[in-house]
Amino acid sequence: MKGVILAGGLGTRLFPLTKITNKHLLPIYDRPMIYYPIECLVNAGVDDIMVVTGGRKSGDFLSLLGNGSEFGLKHLNYTYQEGEGGIAEALGLAEHWAGDDDICVVLGDNIIEKNIKAAVEDFRAQGKGAKIMLKKVHDPERFGVASLDGDKVSKIVEKPKQPESDLAVIGIYMYDNRVFDIIKTLEPSNRGELEITDVNNWYIQDGTMTYEVLEGWWTDAGTFPSLHKAANLVADGGANNLD
Ligand code: DAU
Repeated sequence: MKGVILAGGLGTRLFPLTKITNKHLLPIYDRPMIYYPIECLVNAGVDDIMVVTGGRKSGDFLSLLGNGSEFGLKHLNYTYQEGEGGIAEALGLAEHWAGDDDICVVLGDNIIEKNIKAAVEDFRAQGKGAKIMLKKVHDPERFGVASLDGDKVSKIVEKPKQPESDLAVIGIYMYDNRVFDIIKTLEPSNRGELEITDVNNWYIQDGTMTYEVLEGWWTDAGTFPSLHKAANLVADGGANNLD
C-alpha cells in the first residue's frame, strides 16, 4: 500500500496566514502541520509516500522535508496541483506513481491523537473496495456526514445543512486501485471541486465500503478555531501516539 498526503489548495479560510505560505507549513504547536499526516502514515507502516502540494510556496516542502529522513524514510515523492480543483482531483495526480497499488490518503490538515495501524491492517485483509474512518462530532455540518444502515454506511452527504447523523467522515481514506478510474468519471460540485465524497459514495453503491470509528481525538486545522484547537490538543497530549 502507498500513502498520499494532500497538501494543495489555497487555504483561503486561514487568510492572511496563507497569503505568503502554504497552509500545511503553518505551525501546530511545535511542528509544521505537514509533519502530522506523514507521521500518521509512517506509524501505520506505510512508508512509500507522495505529497501533493500546490501554490507559490510549494518548493518550501522540499526544503523542509527533503527525502523524509527525519521520519525514517528513504525517499519522499512530490507532485504539484495547479489551482484548487478539489481533494479528488489532487488524489488523481498520484495515479501514475501509484501503479497497481492500493492507496491510503491523508488530508494534510487532519491530525489524530492515536494511530490507524489496525484499520490499515484490516483494509489490507479486506482486499477490495474502500475504508473510511468516522468520528462523532458536535458540528457535523462542517464535514462529510455518514448515515449508517446496520453495519454499513448507506450514504455520505458533504457539509449538509441538516445532518442526518453526528458522524463526520475524517480525512483518512483507504482505496483499492479502482479509485483513479472513479475520479475520471466525476463532475465538479457546486463549489467547483471534484469531491472525495462522490468517490466514497461510488464505493458505497458498489457495496465495498467499510468503516471504522476512530479512537482518540481528531481535528482538522483549516479554520482559525480548528487551528487553535489542534495546537492545544497537541500541546496537551501529543498526536500520533502509538499505544
Ligand atoms: O477534514 C475532513 C473533511 O475534509 C471531510 O469531512 C470532508 O468530507 C472533505 O470534503 C474535506 O472537507 P474540507 O472542505 O474541510 O476540505 P478542504 O477544502 O479544507 O481540504 C482539506 C485538505 O485537502 C487540504 O488541507 C489540502 C487538500 N486539498 C484540498 C483541495 C480543495 C488539496 O490538496 N487540493 C484541493 O484542491
